[in-house]
Amino acid sequence: MTETGNAGGFALRRPGSTGTAAGSPGAAAVPAATSADAEPAESPEPLSDDALLEVDEVRRESDVDAVLERLDRELVGLVPVKTRIREIAALLLVDRMRGRFGLSATRPALHMSFTGSPGTGKTTVALRMAELLHGLGYLRRGHLVSVTRDDLVGQYVGHTAPKTKEVLKRAMGGVLFIDEAYYLYKEDNERDYGAESIEILLQVMESERDDLVVILAGYKDRMDDFFRSNPGMSSRIAHHIDFPDYSVDELAAIAGLIATEHEYLLPENTEEVLRDYLQRRMRQPRFANARSVRNAIERARLRQANRLVSAQGTSVTKEQLQTLEPADFLLSRVFAEDGDDGEEDGDASPTE
Ligand SMILES: Nc1ncnc2c1ncn2[C@@H]1O[C@H](COP(=O)(O)OP(=O)(O)OP(=O)(O)O)[C@@H](O)[C@H]1O
Ligand SMILES: [Mg+2]
Repeated sequence: MTETGNAGGFALRRPGSTGTAAGSPGAAAVPAATSADAEPAESPEPLSDDALLEVDEVRRESDVDAVLERLDRELVGLVPVKTRIREIAALLLVDRMRGRFGLSATRPALHMSFTGSPGTGKTTVALRMAELLHGLGYLRRGHLVSVTRDDLVGQYVGHTAPKTKEVLKRAMGGVLFIDEAYYLYKEDNERDYGAESIEILLQVMESERDDLVVILAGYKDRMDDFFRSNPGMSSRIAHHIDFPDYSVDELAAIAGLIATEHEYLLPENTEEVLRDYLQRRMRQPRFANARSVRNAIERARLRQANRLVSAQGTSVTKEQLQTLEPADFLLSRVFAEDGDDGEEDGDASPTE
C-alpha cells in the first residue's frame, strides 16, 4: 500500500487561511454545505437572484486551472481522459457556484474506474484527480492511498474486515485507488474472502461518499467482467474512463518529457533510433507504454555513463554529460537479431 500526500508543490489554500480545506474561506466547503459554511466572513447569505458571480474568480479560488494546466503540460496525449476530467471539473465548479446562490448542489457521484493497459497513466491521473477534487473542496485531504487485493483481503476468517476497514480509514478524505480491482472477486470461489471486502467497500462507497472517492483500475476487459459479476459495484461508479494505448509519436514525446525532466538531451539522430526502439519494443511481451519509455531512458543513462567513464584519461563537457547518443539505445537487446523477450525493461520495478 502506498500513500501519496499532496503537501508541498501544489498550492491548495489561500495564503493565510488556517482552517481545514472544507472549512477555510479560500477552499470552499463541499457544495452540499450552505454558503454560510463556505464563506463565513464574506457572504453569510446566499447571493441575491440578480447577483453576478465571476466565474474566473471561482476558478482561481479552486486552483482547478493549475491542476488542469499541469495535466496538459506533464502528460502527453490522453485526449479523451483529459476531456473527461475537464468536464468533471466544470460540473464541480458549477455546483460550487450554484451553492453560492443557495441552489441545491447535491454532491455528484465521484467514484470512478480507470481502465487501460499498463503504463498508460492511470495512477498518475488518479493523483491529479485527488488534487483536483481537493482544490474544488470535495476532498478534505486530497491524498491518494493506492492498494491491491493483498492490502484489503486477509488470509483467514475474520482478517478481511479489519484489513479493509483499516485501508478505508487511511483513505478517508482522499482517494482510495484499487489497482487490478478484479482480483478482489473470484468467480469460481464463493468462499473467497474478497467478497467480504467488496461488501464493505460497497457500503462505505455509499455511506461515506461525501468523504471518499474510490477509483478502481485495471485492464478493460477484465474490469468489464468484474462489473458484470458485481452490479452493485458497477452502479456506484459514475465515471468510466478508458486510457488508450500510446502511439509511437506519443511515446517519443513522452521520452522527450522524461529526458527534459532529468536534464538529458535527445538529439535528432538519437530520437530516430529511439523511435525504432519503441516500434520494436511495442511488439514484444510485457510492453508497458510510458513506463517502458521511462525504463528505456534509465537503461540508456546507464550505457551513457558506462561510455563516458570507461575511456581513460579523457575529459567531458556539460553537453556530453547530458547527451544520450544513438549507441546508448542501439546496444539494447531489443535490437538483437533474435529479438528480445522484453525482459530488459519489462519487469523493472517502478523506480520512477
Ligand atoms: N501521458 C503521459 N505523459 C508522460 N508521462 C506519462 C504519461 N503516462 C504515463 N506516464 C509516465 O509513465 C509512468 C507510468 O505511468 P502510471 O504509473 O501512471 O501508469 P499506470 O497506467 O498506472 O500503469 P499500471 O497499469 O502498470 O499501474 C509514470 O512514470 C508516468 O509519469
Ligand atoms: Mg498504476
